[in-house]
Amino acid sequence: MENVLLYEEIEAGVELVTINRPDKLNALNQNVLQELASKLEQIERSEIRAVILTGAGSRAFVAGADLEEIASRSPFALWDFLRQGQKVLRLIEELRKPVIAAVNGFALGGGFELALACPLRIAAETAYFAFPEAGLGLMPGFGGTQRLPKAIGKTLALEYLLTGARLGAAEAYRLGLVNRVVPGEEVLPKAIELARQIAAQAPAAVQFILQSVRGGYELAGERGELLEAGLTALCGATEDSREGLAAFKERRKPVFQGR
Ligand code: COA
Repeated sequence: MENVLLYEEIEAGVELVTINRPDKLNALNQNVLQELASKLEQIERSEIRAVILTGAGSRAFVAGADLEEIASRSPFALWDFLRQGQKVLRLIEELRKPVIAAVNGFALGGGFELALACPLRIAAETAYFAFPEAGLGLMPGFGGTQRLPKAIGKTLALEYLLTGARLGAAEAYRLGLVNRVVPGEEVLPKAIELARQIAAQAPAAVQFILQSVRGGYELAGERGELLEAGLTALCGATEDSREGLAAFKERRKPVFQGR
């Protein structure tokens, strides 16, 4: 069977995961989703501190859900495929380690949704995002109608969802949808640099900040603050926070153990 997912620890604590179906522009089929889920579960339990997710080749990040998988399915089978995709994307969003999307080329439909599920994104200058679904008589079903409005506001999100118009990298940056836009050959080095910066922080602090920010989107007013206070108190009880404060006092670099 083809190796649809490539992975390697490119430097200490930083894992690079590549969706590898370049002949199909890295379209997401069941096989990719399954592999991705098991890899993420393994990363969750590992010493890895930051993950970079990208697509093979220079044209596409991911060209969407695999249209062949969608074409001939009954509503029930399609429901299962969509739920599988939604669960994998949620796994990415809720992973204790940050996942950085290195958007090396276009991110269409499920590819746009995959990028939206990643907490951080770096895009090539030539990359663009779009939802072609409505033009195919379909609609985004991997969380796109839920995450895009939260990311850029309902009005603008609806325009992109309803028209299928391309959202270019520069505009994505202006809207706060990507952290940086860089020349194509710089996408991976920049993603690695960002991952390295995060990997140098205390892992529990990184985990709790991710959870607090994510939780805050779903909780109104003071409930979000209560979540923040709870996680901060927990964070303050870790060995790493004692080490961080001791290092500050002793004017040295902290050595975090992830405890
Ligand atoms: N699912 C399955 N296969 C896909 C795919 C997808 N979403 N997107 C591209 N592919 C496949 C093509 O079928 C083709 O395979 P083949 O060589 O076996 O025929 C291969 O990838 C290359 O794509 P091709 O269309 O020949 O390249 P192109 O440069 O002419 O066009 C796109 C590129 C991205 C504009 C075009 O492939 C496209 O519109 N894809 C669908 C995008 C989409 O609607 N995504 C949302 C899905 S819900």
